[in-house]
Amino acid sequence: MSRIAYVNGRYLPHKNASVHIEDRGYQFGDGVYEVVLVLNKNLIDFEGHYTRLKRSLSEISLDFPISETVIKQIFKRLVRSNHITNGLIYLQVTRGVADRAHQFPTNVPPALVVTAKPTLITKTVAGKKAITTADQRWDRRDIKTIQLLPNCIAKQEAVKHDAFEAIMVMQDGTITEGASSNLWMVDKDNQLVTRQASNAILNGITKLSLTNIASIRQYKIVERPFTVEEAREAKELFVTSATAIVTPIIQLNDDLIADGNVGPVALALRSAYLENTR
Ligand SMILES: Cc1ncc(COP(=O)(O)O)c(C=O)c1O
Repeated sequence: MSRIAYVNGRYLPHKNASVHIEDRGYQFGDGVYEVVLVLNKNLIDFEGHYTRLKRSLSEISLDFPISETVIKQIFKRLVRSNHITNGLIYLQVTRGVADRAHQFPTNVPPALVVTAKPTLITKTVAGKKAITTADQRWDRRDIKTIQLLPNCIAKQEAVKHDAFEAIMVMQDGTITEGASSNLWMVDKDNQLVTRQASNAILNGITKLSLTNIASIRQYKIVERPFTVEEAREAKELFVTSATAIVTPIIQLNDDLIADGNVGPVALALRSAYLENTR
């Protein structure tokens, strides 16, 4: 069965889908994206992702007047045509095709690409290793831009150390987030600690959603920066993203977190998130 992708108004076989070499996404990383989880054929946290997409577009002054309804229709059609039950949808908007010049072109239509793929989603998940690395990104990490080279370098560093995620650390010693996820810890008082929304991190839609789910379940949530030292001493660590959902981290660099086993809070929150999306 061949995969189908959406490119600028057309549904095409994935292997033939392409954009022009002078697309500004390719030339300058001039674009933004979203990744949306599909569970049981349903789009998870769609409104949150659409809201963040609009914000990212506005922050880079990319005028893209496509409605929530149209995007949802495209997503649903790709879920159907790619026979996806559980999986991921990737959407990317770039500033379109223009002669290569740094300044924004005028009267150029933006380019929209959407792809979809099936993935395996399990109720429980094994604990993973993470490493720490310097956060080398720009000051607008709140924008979900396709310029991901520092994130790619960080992730490659993780792979080199047989780790699942790279936890990025600012010069002041505080953790920002993972290369492709937000980090949470359970502290000694059983509080859930995660960094507050600001320009320093990408405010995850999974994080937002889990914050609601956790507070309904009476967890105490504290939003503040925390250090590598605090993370090492945590009762539990876990990361969240549309892709990772809730994934426990049981080792940070050479140190086991607590006794090195998956903790009850991470597992309970993963189940609660999956349950909530039924
Ligand atoms: C740097 C970064 N932080 C956080 C996240 C989590 O965001 P979300 O929960 O919206 O997937 C991602 C997801 O790709 C990311 O790339």
